[in-house]
Amino acid sequence: MTSTTTPPDGPVAPGGRTDLPALDVLLPAAEHLPPDPREDRLAALYAYGSPVRGASVVRANMVASVDGAAWGPDERSGSINDDADWRVFRVLRALADVVLVGAGTARAEGYTPLGRPRGLRHLHDAPLELAVVSRSGRVPPALAGTDRPPFVLTGPAGAATARGDVPADRVLVVGQDAADDALDLATGLAALAGRGLTRVLTEGGPSLLADLLAADLVDELCVTTTPTLVGPGPGRIVGGAPAPGTTTALPRGARLAHLLHAPEDRPGSPAGTTAARWLLPLG
Ligand SMILES: NC(=O)c1ccc[n+]([C@@H]2O[C@H](COP(=O)([O-])OP(=O)(O)OC[C@H]3O[C@@H](n4cnc5c(N)ncnc54)[C@H](OP(=O)(O)O)[C@@H]3O)[C@@H](O)[C@H]2O)c1
Repeated sequence: MTSTTTPPDGPVAPGGRTDLPALDVLLPAAEHLPPDPREDRLAALYAYGSPVRGASVVRANMVASVDGAAWGPDERSGSINDDADWRVFRVLRALADVVLVGAGTARAEGYTPLGRPRGLRHLHDAPLELAVVSRSGRVPPALAGTDRPPFVLTGPAGAATARGDVPADRVLVVGQDAADDALDLATGLAALAGRGLTRVLTEGGPSLLADLLAADLVDELCVTTTPTLVGPGPGRIVGGAPAPGTTTALPRGARLAHLLHAPEDRPGSPAGTTAARWLLPLG
């Protein structure tokens, strides 16, 4: 195995900016959140609740353009997000035990081993784990053979492939025998919870989120809408095609927990981004 340097901290903001914007809480009650290096108030707004579905709490965090695109012309979400989204994104990472992503997202977005966001370790001082869901078991090169391997949730058909890239104890076999069978994501979450990883943050992508929602495994959906229009082409934040015969918990209702808004507080910085936290009660 080759080894990569363990990042001491999470990534910096897009463009390397450190002057993150203010946020206004519009709902449930008006409140101004100036930039805060400790982010204690924002963290309180996003505190994990108690588990109601199994042993973990699953939060999904996605960004969309005004016209509903889940990625921009470069096929990455980085081209539709902004500093206000980043401010929320890093607090959500600071609070989680494990980030859960589909292999497509890990490949498209170039995931590397995760670190806690800079300056936010006081919110949750434990390693931030990464778990990749993959039917094929193909671990993205930037994650294979590193000294901080991700967990890989896969089926029997993908397990042998995954074991070539990460240690066997990081491969969680949660599928049926046939290569095209759906993975048992509830079993995967239980396996992570058995390792103490109960605060789950899924960062997508759209296919994985669709499968998690269909199986009624998502407790809350955090959606940032940035003031951009992408035009026709890209898919939505929930996408892919359900496996034949899949039963689904969709459509369903959601309840707004809070709504944030980025005011125009910095010259040249686009205002209008909203960040909503939607709770998904048991169906
Ligand atoms: N707007 C946002 O917030 C956001 C967030 C994340 C990603 N994105 C964008 O979304 C695009 C990728 O979309 P995507 O739908 O392909 O992403 P994805 O769900 O991350 O990736 C799909 C792949 O992940 C694995 N996978 C997902 N769900 C699975 C399941 N239930 N069981 C087994 N394997 C599963 C499979 O990997 P194998 O092929 O290895 O079997 C599948 O081919 C990229 O452009 C990315 O930038 C946007």
